[in-house]
Amino acid sequence: MSALAVIGTSPAVAGNEQNWLPPGSSTEILRNPPLELIRSDTIRDEKWLYGRLLFRSPSLLGEKAVRIGLSCNSCHSNGHVNTDFFINGLSDRPGRVDVTHRFWQAGFDDAISNPMDIPSLRGSRDTAPYGTVNIFPTLHAFTRHVIVTEFAGPVPDSEKLESLVTYLSSLDNKELNNDQSVVKAGADMSYLSLLRSPLEERDNTKLRELTDLIRSDFGRRADMTNTRIEATRRTVKGLKEITEKAALKEYPAAITIYQKLMSDQ
Ligand code: HEC
Repeated sequence: MSALAVIGTSPAVAGNEQNWLPPGSSTEILRNPPLELIRSDTIRDEKWLYGRLLFRSPSLLGEKAVRIGLSCNSCHSNGHVNTDFFINGLSDRPGRVDVTHRFWQAGFDDAISNPMDIPSLRGSRDTAPYGTVNIFPTLHAFTRHVIVTEFAGPVPDSEKLESLVTYLSSLDNKELNNDQSVVKAGADMSYLSLLRSPLEERDNTKLRELTDLIRSDFGRRADMTNTRIEATRRTVKGLKEITEKAALKEYPAAITIYQKLMSDQ
């Protein structure tokens, strides 16, 4: 049986994404993740933060990606390259993958096996046009193509697309610019400030979407210390209480819990 046949027939094992991949595959950064280089003129506002969160969220992509826990960040780790990335059957060597293979979805298969180098996205705001097989003039258009056509994800609304492009555009190119500030990647980036406006605007749909994204983001952070795990447990509990209160339309109570969470940060 070929490796790809294994991908298609593996049983679902909740919470263990590796079981959906053929043996020998690796979609996680194993050691020494690349630095996340952010342009020093970047305003790290909520739009940027939301874009960064989406970049790390499998739910942005299609069902297949969700099953194997794959996000933009799995390949373009911290906006650079995951040189360990390897899917048996789709990669010919680590750091390369075929993104036009039918594995990702039905209907978009160029019928040839063509793994390509995963490119760095550092400095990509200045490197238009984008893509190799299908070429697009803007990051906006290419990102939409990646989500919808390559990975069979749901059509992103304009807020999602613009936020992603804001984040992509903030990725600095170390070679071109020496005064970049470096965002330390990993456990200490908090997305909680994103919840403020949906709470104030009593937008329960948005609140649910964001709390789901933030909660699943915690699950993907591998490098946590024990103290950090405890703090995360409290935060996840708080997030659950916030959504419960908001579902009952008890917004003042939800805001009180939120403020407590923020002051504990
Ligand atoms: C499975 C690995 C994988 C995932 C997941 C992935 N990419 Fe890529 N990406 C690639 C590969 C391989 C290429 C080169 C293919 C090409 O040029 O058509 C690429 C190319 C790109 C480029 C073009 C770079 C250039 O200079 O031409 C951009 C921009 C990009 N990806 C953004 C994203 C975004 C945003 C996401 C998430 C929505 C994403 N990618 C998800 C592997 C991946």
